[in-house]
Amino acid sequence: MKEHKLGIIMNGVTGRMGTNQHLIRSICAIRDKGGVKVSPDEVIVIDPILTGRNEQKLGALAERTGVKRWTTNLEEALADASNQIFFDASSTLHRARFVEMAAQAGKAVYCEKPTAVTTEEALRLAQVCEDAGIKNGVVQDKLWLPGILKLKALIDQGFFGEILSVRGEFGYWVFTGHDANRPAQRPSWNYRKEDGGGIIIDMLCHWRYLVDNVFGPIRSLSCRGAVHVGERVDEQGEPYACTADDACYATMELENGILCQFNSSWTVRVRRDDLFVMQVDGTKGSAVVGLRECRVQEMSATPKPVWNPDVAQPINFYDGWTIVPDEEEYDNAFKVQWELFLRHVALDEAFPYDLRSGAKGVELAEAGLQSWKDRKWVDLAS
Ligand SMILES: NC(=O)c1ccc[n+]([C@@H]2O[C@H](COP(=O)([O-])OP(=O)(O)OC[C@H]3O[C@@H](n4cnc5c(N)ncnc54)[C@H](O)[C@@H]3O)[C@@H](O)[C@H]2O)c1
Repeated sequence: MKEHKLGIIMNGVTGRMGTNQHLIRSICAIRDKGGVKVSPDEVIVIDPILTGRNEQKLGALAERTGVKRWTTNLEEALADASNQIFFDASSTLHRARFVEMAAQAGKAVYCEKPTAVTTEEALRLAQVCEDAGIKNGVVQDKLWLPGILKLKALIDQGFFGEILSVRGEFGYWVFTGHDANRPAQRPSWNYRKEDGGGIIIDMLCHWRYLVDNVFGPIRSLSCRGAVHVGERVDEQGEPYACTADDACYATMELENGILCQFNSSWTVRVRRDDLFVMQVDGTKGSAVVGLRECRVQEMSATPKPVWNPDVAQPINFYDGWTIVPDEEEYDNAFKVQWELFLRHVALDEAFPYDLRSGAKGVELAEAGLQSWKDRKWVDLAS
C-alpha cells in the first residue's frame, strides 16, 4: 500500500468552528476511517497536531479527540518537516499573522473564511502564499451541502428553464445573554466591528462563492446593514455595546441578469424549513433549497390562485411541491472540502478554492459595507 503521510497543524481549533467542524467532524473522522483512500493500493494518512495559546484547553481537546500531538509552541510545529499543512480557524483578525508564518515556513495553507476584513489585505495574503510557492485554500463549505448539490444537479439538467430570481433567507435568533436561562451562544467578537465581527463580513463571503459557482458571476450589489440589537453579554458575563451589524439585506445583480436577494440575520425567529432556505424561480420550475433538502414545483404542478381575502385560502401552497430524493449518502461538507485539499497537497489534484478566490468573498463584503455607507449600488471589480 502506497502511503502519503501528511502532518497537519490545526491552529485555533479550541473555538466553535475549529473544534466541531474541522477537528471532530473532518480531521478525526478522516483519521478514524484510516485516511483518504485514493485507489485500492494508495492512501493519504493524516497526523494532526493541535496548536494554540492555552495549554489546558489544548490538552483537554487533545484528550477528548484522541489526538496525540499538541503544543503551544507554533514555531516549533512549523519547523517540523513532518508537518506539511497549516490550518487556521482562529478569529479573523489573527489570520494574517498565522498565514504569513506558515507561508514563510513553506507549509501548504488552508484556513477559515474570511481571510481578512479588507480586500486589499485578503489579496496581499493570497500574494504572500503565491510568492512562497505554497498550495493554499479557503473554506467554502456551503458548496458541498446536500441541498446545494441537489440544486446544482437540477440546474445542470435544465429543470428551471431560464432562472429569473433567487431569494435566500439565512438566520436565527442569537440570544443576547440578557434573557433568563438563555446564555449567549456566539462569540462576542462577532458583534464588535473592531474585533473583525459583523454579519456582512461573515455571510457575504459565503454568498459570493455560492452565487458565483451556482448561478453565475455577481456584477453589482446593493446592501443595507443594521445593528438591530445594541447590547449583548460577553463570555465574562459583562454587557458590551454591539458595534457590528447583526443583519443585512442584500440584492445582487448577476452578469447573466439573474437577481439574487439574500437576507442574513442573527435577529430573526425561524418559521421556514431550515436555518438557510433559498428559493429559486425559473420559467419552467422553482425549487426551495435548505441545507439538506430540496423541494421542486414544475409548471404542471403550479397552482393558479385567485386573490380574495374575503374567503379562507382554498389552496395549501405547501402542497404541490415534490421532494428531491437523495442520490447518494452525503458526507459533512467541511470534510468533503478537507479531502479535496488533502488530495491537492498529496497528489497535486486541482483545488480552485484558493486564497485568491477567498479574497473575492471579502470583496463582496467590503462592497456591501460601502453600499450601506453610501446608500448606493456598488459594482464589483473582480
Ligand atoms: N465556514 C463557516 O461556516 C464559518 C462559520 C463560523 C465562523 N467561521 C470562521 O471561523 C473563524 C473562527 O470562528 P469561531 O466562531 O470558531 O470563533 P471562536 O471565537 O469560537 O474561535 C476562535 C479561535 O481562535 C483562537 N484564538 C483567538 N485569538 C488567538 C490568538 N491570538 N492566537 C491563537 N489563537 C487565537 C481562540 O482560542 C479560538 O480557538 C472565524 O474566522 C469565522 O469567520 C466560519
